[in-house]
Amino acid sequence: MSQKIPVPPFAVISGAQVHSVLDGRQKEVVGIVEQAYRIHGAGETVNPPSYFLRFPDRPNSRIIALPASIGGEVRVDGMKWISSFPDNVAAGIPRASAVLILNDHETGYPLACLESSIISAARTAASAALAAARLADARPGGGRPRRIGFIGVGLIARYLHSYLAGTGWEFDSAGVYDLSAEHAAGFAGYLEQAPGTGKITVHDSAEELIRSSDLVVFATIAGAPHVHEPAWFSHNPLVLHVSLRDLAPEVVLGATNIVDDVEHCLKADTSLHLAEQLVGNRDFVDGTLYDVLTGQVELPADRPVVFSPFGLGVLDLAVGKHIYDVVSEAGELVVVEDFFHELRRYG
Ligand SMILES: NC(=O)c1ccc[n+]([C@@H]2O[C@H](COP(=O)([O-])OP(=O)(O)OC[C@H]3O[C@@H](n4cnc5c(N)ncnc54)[C@H](O)[C@@H]3O)[C@@H](O)[C@H]2O)c1
Repeated sequence: MSQKIPVPPFAVISGAQVHSVLDGRQKEVVGIVEQAYRIHGAGETVNPPSYFLRFPDRPNSRIIALPASIGGEVRVDGMKWISSFPDNVAAGIPRASAVLILNDHETGYPLACLESSIISAARTAASAALAAARLADARPGGGRPRRIGFIGVGLIARYLHSYLAGTGWEFDSAGVYDLSAEHAAGFAGYLEQAPGTGKITVHDSAEELIRSSDLVVFATIAGAPHVHEPAWFSHNPLVLHVSLRDLAPEVVLGATNIVDDVEHCLKADTSLHLAEQLVGNRDFVDGTLYDVLTGQVELPADRPVVFSPFGLGVLDLAVGKHIYDVVSEAGELVVVEDFFHELRRYG
């Protein structure tokens, strides 16, 4: 009989522990996310389509399962299970809540369950900050935009700002637009406390904000396009289209389009999916972030650049495994004793 291997202990990692590992470490997290994109680009991941659980009695809510496996130096499998209940916000709690399960690469045993709304926000912001830096560098002229504008200002917008600021971005001005005046005022108040943000303006329309910004962030919860005019982008801004469904196909087709993963991004009624349905092909997708990282895509100066990240489960795994390793090395893993109980084949 081959030698018996121990069953790994099962740990629970709280949001407070996740926060203490990630807080103030924006550059490190961007590095982890870049490494995950490189592993993905090299074909050493498995990242099947996300599964959307929807409810006939609660049509604006959903829970998404993102199973994934990442190789390279990370070597972990697992799944993010993330809920979006938009009505939570009016009730005073965040829209999204999530857990991440990490599975041991050798045995398949679940190693840990991590609070994952922070991991999800951090990896999303890190991916957008990475894309912004590399796309700005790759554009002819190579200068960084200095006028930022945020459309839709919840948790993701705040994380995105903190990841840009934490990786060296400074702005002359920051625009804010949200359907809710209360949210716009709250976010403007947050920006006022942040150094390097410049003059802050709350705009009355998306058009006004887009026309006065060179870096436009979409982080709304729009389910269908609400920005239809390509002319609003005639100054060729860099657009971080994190919420994926804001832009009409006409805007997408007038831009250089960079995605994190082509198959994922052209699904589930995203703006790019609608554009594909309109023209019947995917020729308007110019490349992936991996292509940008490896210098395989040229960005023309005379078109807006739109980055649309579907959000890959492998990013959550990479950030989650890093947190697991840090907490474990610090001797602070909270293990659930005897979690796996039936371990002898015949009792
Ligand atoms: N691509 C990814 O990897 C990824 C990852 C995480 C979250 N997201 C997306 O980011 C988005 C924002 O998430 P959040 O947690 O910050 O949400 P949130 O609910 O906290 O905030 C969203 C904000 O958008 C505003 N809004 C809604 N529709 C708008 C519109 N048409 N114009 C202007 N403002 C509008 C709302 O009033 C709200 O303030 C969500 O769509 C979420 O699915 C994407």
